[in-house]
This record gives sequence, structure tokens and C-alpha cells, in this order.
Amino acid sequence: MDKLRIMSVFGTRPEAIKMAPLVKELKMRDGVESLCCVTAQHREMLDSVMDVFGLTADRDLDIMTPSQTLSTITSKCLLGMDGAIEELKPDMILVHGDTSTTFAGALSAFYHRVPVGHVEAGLRTYDKYSPYPEEMNRALVTRLADLYFCPTRRNRDNLLREGVGAEGVFVTGNTVIDALKTTVRDGYVFATEELNALDYDGRKIVVVTCHRRENYGEPMRQIMTALRDLAAQNEDAELVYPVHLSPVVREAAGKYLAGAPRVHLIDPLPADEMHNLMARAYLVMTDSGGLQEEAPALGKPVLVLRRETERPEAVEAGTVALAGVRYDDILRMGNALLRDASAYAVMARAVNPYGDGNACRRIADAIEWHFGRRAARPEEYLP
Ligand code: UD1
Ligand code: UDP
Repeated sequence: MDKLRIMSVFGTRPEAIKMAPLVKELKMRDGVESLCCVTAQHREMLDSVMDVFGLTADRDLDIMTPSQTLSTITSKCLLGMDGAIEELKPDMILVHGDTSTTFAGALSAFYHRVPVGHVEAGLRTYDKYSPYPEEMNRALVTRLADLYFCPTRRNRDNLLREGVGAEGVFVTGNTVIDALKTTVRDGYVFATEELNALDYDGRKIVVVTCHRRENYGEPMRQIMTALRDLAAQNEDAELVYPVHLSPVVREAAGKYLAGAPRVHLIDPLPADEMHNLMARAYLVMTDSGGLQEEAPALGKPVLVLRRETERPEAVEAGTVALAGVRYDDILRMGNALLRDASAYAVMARAVNPYGDGNACRRIADAIEWHFGRRAARPEEYLP
């Protein structure tokens, strides 16, 4: 029997981190040819992930230029995908999450009549402009996809409510937990010297990230000035902020945070460094999706610098709280966690609503089952 040709398409840092263990799982299957097409919507931040996980692209569309618009990204991905699909002839294309690469990858697969598997399917805020453009990207991919790999039951229920047929929907857990299991180690020594120099036992290390498009402008100003004042008001805290390479974000971080006491602005970290930094930190403050999933698994409280979240499971479990995007709220909630030991203890518990580290095995099983290469439907992740 011919091998199934399964092509994973991704282009940004978080997609790469979350698809890396799946590309590898598929490579281990005798009946599968695991192919990898990167759009390089991100360049340096993607290459770093490829290095950390030892991945090589079969096709690199190399689309990134500085400060690209959404239309440029989408159209360049679409044009590049034509060649990749014609050359690599996949039986199925896998896309991840909700970026412009995700949407263009799925749309291009549809144009070529190639079935689509959507990894991290079913997340929703039901607010068209928040997160922007991710909420619309993932909703559109739902219409284009054939198989749906949902991290949680809630994600599955969202899809079923929208009329997606149950046969193609699988609750698998999030592949980010699979990735985290390979990167976090006791006794890890950082390649970034500044991280080895931090006093993780004596001081409260707060890991910060902020990059979302809907936070550009006034929300980012309020977030960053609140972070600056939080560091100023807490002498036992150190904020470590690996700044995203987006020019908009770098300009804002430079303007509001450069030179502030106890604020370390550093370049983006390789994924293994970032995961081990979080594992040793006291608190995470972020607008990132991935960090909201990783930190709870590491037992670290998270304050989310957004108005809403499509990841309410950890909020319900009590380890993640929405701080919003207003200066007063962020400062108040940050101060509470830095100063009130009992408030902190309530949130600092390891919970795993997003997976058990076996998502990739379930996804690969489901794909083989879909193509008739496996008798039984895979077991699902239903804790
Ligand atoms: C993108 C995704 C977002 C995801 C985020 C993860 C879209 C529309 N947005 O947002 O969903 O949460 O990635 O980080 O798909 N840049 C570099 N080098 C890099 C990466 C980025 O220079 O390695 C700069 C470029 O100038 C680029 C800009 O950052 O134009 C913005 O990148 P872009 O992919 O458009 O948006 P993100 O904010 O990164
Ligand atoms: N991350 C990283 N280095 C950094 C910042 C984040 O490796 O300097 C990782 C983080 O651990 C998570 C992912 O990148 O796995 C999240 O990516 P990002 O915040 O860019 O995107 P989002 O998750 O918001 O889509």
C-alpha cells in the first residue's frame, strides 16, 4: 500500500512549536510520509523553532518581509502553496490554529481539492475583531476543514453547535503539552547568559510577553506603563520580557520600558529557553495564546493582558485570570499576586486542562483511521 502523504503547513513561531511534535510523530509511522511546508510568515522566529526541534522543511515559501499587511501575507502564502502542493502531492494538508498562514494554507488545500486537517480546532471568542484577525481565520478554516483536532471538550462542543459533523471531530489535547514535555528539564542551563544570572529563588521573576494586533496603540501603552510601574513598585521582582520581532511591538517596548528599573528587555528566546524560564518563574503576564496553555501545566499563575480569552478552561480551573488592557486593573492584579502570598498560592497550582502530552499520537491515529489504515477510532482526551 502507498504511504499516506501528510503535509504540515505552518509559518509562525507558535504554529511551529505546536506542529513540531506532530511532524515527528507522523515521521515515526511506517505508513506515512511526513512532509513539511513552511510559509516563513515569521523568519528568524520560525528558524529558531526548526533548530530547537531538529526539523527541516521540504518546501520553504520564504514570504516574510518587514511589517507585512494581512493581505500581503495571505496572497503570498496562496501563490506559494500552489507550487508546494503540485510538487509534493499531499493526500492531506494539516494546518494549525488561526494565523494568516493557517487560513491561506487551508484555502489553498481546498482550491487543490486536498482534504484539510485542522489542529487546535474549535477555539472561539465569538468576537469578530478580537483576537484580530485570528477569530475569523479559525472560523473560516472550520468551513474548509475535513478533520478537526480539538484540544478540549469545549472546543469540540463549539464546533458541534456550529453544525460540524461529529464523525470528523476528535478531542486530542493540545500538542503544545507534547512539545513542553520534550523541552523542560531539571538542571537546565540557559544559553542566554542573562537568564543564568537571575536569582530565581531570592527574587520574583515575572515573564512578560505582548504582541497581539488588537493591543496595538492605546492598549499596548496602558499594558506597558502598568508593567513598568509594577516593576518600580516591587523591589523584590524582576520582569523578563523577550520582545517579539514585530516593529510595532519593538517600538512600543522601547518607548515605554527601555531603561526601566528591574525590567529586562531581551530578544525572543528559543522555545526551549522560554519553556525553562517559565518553569522557574514566579508569574506570567501575557497576551499570548500559547503561554496561557503552557504556564498552567508548569504550575505558574497567568495574568492575561486581553479583554477576553478563547482559552477559558484554565480561568475556570483558577490558575489564569483576565487582567484586561487597562493600566489600573493590570497594576492592581499584578500587585496582588506579587504581595499577597495567599492570593498567589490559590493560583499557583499545576493543572492540565489542555492536554496530557499524547495529543500527537491521537491525531496521527485519527488520520490513519480516516484513511482506512487503522480499524478503531482513536481514544479521545476527555479528562
Ligand atoms: C502572527 C500571527 C498571530 C500569532 C503571532 C505569533 C497573523 C495575522 N498573526 O502575528 O496570530 O499570534 O504571529 O507570534 O497571522 N518579524 C520579524 N521576524 C520574525 C517574525 C516577525 O522580523 O521572525 C516582524 C516582521 O516585520 C513582520 C512582523 O514582525 O512583518 C509581524 O509579523 P506577522 O506575522 O505579520 O504578525 P505577528 O504579530 O507576528
Ligand atoms: N515563545 C518562545 N520565545 C519567546 C516567546 C514565546 O519560544 O521569546 C514561545 C512560547 O513558549 C509559546 C509560543 O512561543 O510556545 C507562543 O508564541 P506567541 O506568543 O508568539 O504566539 P501566540 O501563542 O500568541 O499565537
